[in-house]
Amino acid sequence: MSTPTLHIFLFTVLASLFVSTFCDNQSRKDVALFIFGDSINDAGTNNYINTTANFRANFPPYGETFFRYPTGRFSDGRLMVDFVAEYANLPLISPYLPMKDDEFMGGANFASGGAGALVDTYEGFVVDLKTQLQQLKQLEKKLRKEMGSEKTKRIIKEGVYLISIGTNDYTKPLLNPALFQSISMEDYVGMVIGNITSVLKGIYKVGGRKFAMLGVGQFGCAPSWRRLTRNGSCSGEANKISQLHNVALTSILAKLETQLQGFKYSYFDFYTSGSERIQYPSKYGFKEAKSACCGSGPYRANSTCGGQRGVKEYSLCRHPEKYVFFDSGHPSERANRQFAQLMWNGSASVIRPCNMKELFKHEGT
Ligand SMILES: *[C@@H]1O[C@H](CO)[C@@H](O)[C@H](O)[C@H]1NC(C)=O
Ligand SMILES: *[C@@H]1O[C@H](CO)[C@@H](O)[C@H](O)[C@H]1NC(C)=O
Ligand SMILES: *[C@@H]1O[C@H](CO)[C@@H](O)[C@H](O)[C@H]1NC(C)=O
Ligand SMILES: *[C@@H]1O[C@H](CO)[C@@H](O)[C@H](O)[C@H]1NC(C)=O
Ligand SMILES: *[C@@H]1O[C@H](CO)[C@@H](O)[C@H](O)[C@H]1NC(C)=O
Ligand SMILES: *[C@@H]1O[C@H](CO)[C@@H](O)[C@H](O)[C@H]1NC(C)=O
Repeated sequence: MSTPTLHIFLFTVLASLFVSTFCDNQSRKDVALFIFGDSINDAGTNNYINTTANFRANFPPYGETFFRYPTGRFSDGRLMVDFVAEYANLPLISPYLPMKDDEFMGGANFASGGAGALVDTYEGFVVDLKTQLQQLKQLEKKLRKEMGSEKTKRIIKEGVYLISIGTNDYTKPLLNPALFQSISMEDYVGMVIGNITSVLKGIYKVGGRKFAMLGVGQFGCAPSWRRLTRNGSCSGEANKISQLHNVALTSILAKLETQLQGFKYSYFDFYTSGSERIQYPSKYGFKEAKSACCGSGPYRANSTCGGQRGVKEYSLCRHPEKYVFFDSGHPSERANRQFAQLMWNGSASVIRPCNMKELFKHEGT
């Protein structure tokens, strides 16, 4: 290696060390929050598309704890993204679909319950991740018209992109195990990660730099999956594929950081944080981690919460804050608050390499 090449090489190594080990710390105002993904993040998108009640939560008792009315959020109250917005001193971030041109306030939420990274996941009933990216592009154009390209560029570049995706892509193949005879679990995960990667690159191309990515949770232990094992144990297959997904996701994030100039991320280990609460509920102030608060049948695992999904009868607990799961597949507001706090200022054991507080403060390069 000649000396100039060595210098450049060393500089690059030092620069990347600096970026990945030194999480920025200057305080920043007005950093926007852009939200993507599935029902973990959906704040009402699906109220505005032509879909069925299976993909909606815009009826009581959803929302009862905090809003006192149903908003479309799949919880008794706020979602993780609502708490993150609060910690970042932002207002509640509104769904993009009903947003009028002059209503942009602190960001936009594109997430759609049931969505996956694969276009054919619940196709026709949800806004898939690729379409969510198209909507970001539309929004960017609108903002440029309204506030000019300099300001828009800054909002896009300094904004944080928070994404929860993947769980829904794995539902169908897990329920039709024959699929895994024609494609290995690893290859299927590779497909999902490939699609996520192109969307991350797409956001980067629009100008986004700061990504907060949720891993897939321990969904094999959600009530809906416990029902399927018949004896109440977690679905080992579902948990296995979540872990494969998360390993592949963390490795692609680390790779993108080296490939894309200025790419910065927080990875939230939702799997570990969720499994801790499922295993030791009382340590975190919960009484029940197996059964949902709202639903029917064993573990209230049938997703009949609200009585609008074809079955009228369902039961509802009195104290959702004692439950990890509000319905058969979604955390209670209390669990969401705990997860959001971990994302915001948790240690590297659950959010890494930076937590979201640091990600928000990061200047961008
Ligand atoms: C990070 O911020 C805190 C408080 O805002 C400050 O005390 C500390 O010195 C900063 N650290 C660095 C490395 O800038
Ligand atoms: C909504 O979807 C249903 C079934 O997929 C279809 O019959 C109906 O025409 C659609 N409505 C609109 C307004 O697109
Ligand atoms: C994502 O996956 C689907 C398969 O469902 C594929 O047709 C599509 O082209 C992929 N999209 C991207 C952006 O990679
Ligand atoms: C429950 O059933 C599953 C198969 O569905 C089995 O693998 C597991 O060992 C069983 N667990 C208990 C506690 O019986
Ligand atoms: C729950 O759902 C399963 C399958 O969809 C059904 O067989 C069962 O009867 C339901 N149980 C209750 C209590 O609704
Ligand atoms: C983390 O942030 C939350 C929300 O702002 C706050 O309530 C909590 O005290 C913080 N924890 C630490 C250790 O700073």
